[in-house]
Amino acid sequence: MSVRPKPKRAANQPADSPLPLGEIVCADNLTWMRTLPGGLIDLVYIDPPFMTNAARGARGGLRYDDRWPGGIAEFAAFLEPRFVELHRLLAENGTLYVHVDPRTSHYLKVLLDGIFGADNFLNEIIWSYRTGGRSTRWFARKHDVLLVYARSSGKHAFNVIRDGAFRTDGLVYDEEGKPYKNTRKGRLYFHADGPALTDVWEIPFLSTVARERTGYPSQKPEALLERVIRASSNPGDVVADVFCGSGTTLAVAQRLGRKWLGCDASPDAAEIARKRLGRAGRNGQ
Ligand SMILES: C[S@@+](CC[C@H](N)C(=O)[O-])C[C@H]1O[C@@H](n2cnc3c(N)ncnc32)[C@H](O)[C@@H]1O
Repeated sequence: MSVRPKPKRAANQPADSPLPLGEIVCADNLTWMRTLPGGLIDLVYIDPPFMTNAARGARGGLRYDDRWPGGIAEFAAFLEPRFVELHRLLAENGTLYVHVDPRTSHYLKVLLDGIFGADNFLNEIIWSYRTGGRSTRWFARKHDVLLVYARSSGKHAFNVIRDGAFRTDGLVYDEEGKPYKNTRKGRLYFHADGPALTDVWEIPFLSTVARERTGYPSQKPEALLERVIRASSNPGDVVADVFCGSGTTLAVAQRLGRKWLGCDASPDAAEIARKRLGRAGRNGQ
């Protein structure tokens, strides 16, 4: 396991945490996770390889391997022990987000139900995006799936996020500017900040010219991670991504005042993520 030398601790990084907060470790995540103490992480988001059966590349030659000659059995066997470790690492109020696609999500949901308990399943979030390219043989496949599990449903952290607008037909405003509709039972008031988010998220794919783009393949948009982190953690909480790639989760966690730790097996990914986090101002919290 190649582990980076310990970085200097940032001034506001708790000296007493047994977790390597503010570090991006270049290692196989299973080996690494087994060295960590359990029950201390509030939120984990993972975006593992998707079983595309290709070497995922980007311009500039950056790539990671996503080939699984043994098919779904091999892919699931790779992820299962990692789900077990993530379950152990989560705090009692913790939440896991597993970002996959519709070709594998149903297999992985069965695995996760077995490890977390079906009662701890919270959501299947559909991330809908509109990239170019439309099939003429089936409906264009334009969504990913995020499976969300609580370590212990009911104790998990959750903040309602409001976004978008209510349907305007019949919507009127009272003397204080609060929106409502007239119903037979009287005024039905709506939240001034808009409707609570549903489990279908419309967020654009990262454009090729986006400022946040690092050049790393399969980089996810910060807007997606912002929703995940705002909904399922609070400032000061610990957020982890053990397939961190270019460090999107960690960069957003840092910006939102969360503590963080990350891991990726690719030295290219670790280097990009470290630079990105350095650019964001601090080496962790
Ligand atoms: C889809 S990419 C993550 C992209 C990331 N979410 C981003 O926004 O940049 C998947 C990552 O998993 C990493 N990976 C694959 N197998 C791994 C393993 N056993 N341990 C740690 N990282 C691994 C790959 O190197 C790759 O960077």
